[in-house]
Amino acid sequence: VTPVKVLGIVGSLREGSFNRFALQNAIDLAPEGVQITAAGIGDIPPYNSDVEAQGRPESVVRLREAIAEADAVLFATPEYNYSIPGVLKNAIDWASRGQDQPFNGKAVAIMGASMGMFGTARAQYHLRQVLVFLNAFPINRPEVMIARAQDKFDAEGKLTDETARKLIVQLLEGLRDWAIKLR
Ligand SMILES: Cc1cc2nc3c(=O)[nH]c(=O)nc-3n(C[C@H](O)[C@H](O)[C@H](O)COP(=O)(O)O)c2cc1C
Repeated sequence: VTPVKVLGIVGSLREGSFNRFALQNAIDLAPEGVQITAAGIGDIPPYNSDVEAQGRPESVVRLREAIAEADAVLFATPEYNYSIPGVLKNAIDWASRGQDQPFNGKAVAIMGASMGMFGTARAQYHLRQVLVFLNAFPINRPEVMIARAQDKFDAEGKLTDETARKLIVQLLEGLRDWAIKLR
């Protein structure tokens, strides 16, 4: 069977990001039939429709193509002020434009790591609201919310929390099965 191609999008740009680590752990834990690659959103400019009218920036074209070519998208996002980070919203906004916007009908999974007690719960629900308008189809369960992330990764970025590791595997299995159903 052809593996389900998953595009990972991280909502943090910093090198030592717990969410970047979480995505890397997902890549390492990927079950049978799941192939994950990471997208870059660090070079996407602030959204401006005047700029868009002159042609989409190369970084945006690349992101849109990567989403379109993937069977599914996996978000790994921190929570900023009870919502998703501006850089992630900005990348989604750029990608969302036009009749051919690539999130339409796409299988999605969400996970997140934050230093707070609620592990990105509020950000994840904001992201789900955004996905409604994009007509993307996020799986409901499991919810992977890595709270107090500073205690859950080792110095190399390995996720040491067994529960979180199991949930990530379940999330990827669920996403794989969902993406196959939507094919
Ligand atoms: C602007 C800003 C707002 C934040 N707001 C929240 C928040 O609402 N909830 C939370 O749990 N952590 C919050 N944090 C702390 C983040 O969880 C922490 O910085 C985390 O490491 C960010 O994810 P990253 O490691 O992937 O960059 C905030 C951090 C920043 C920089």
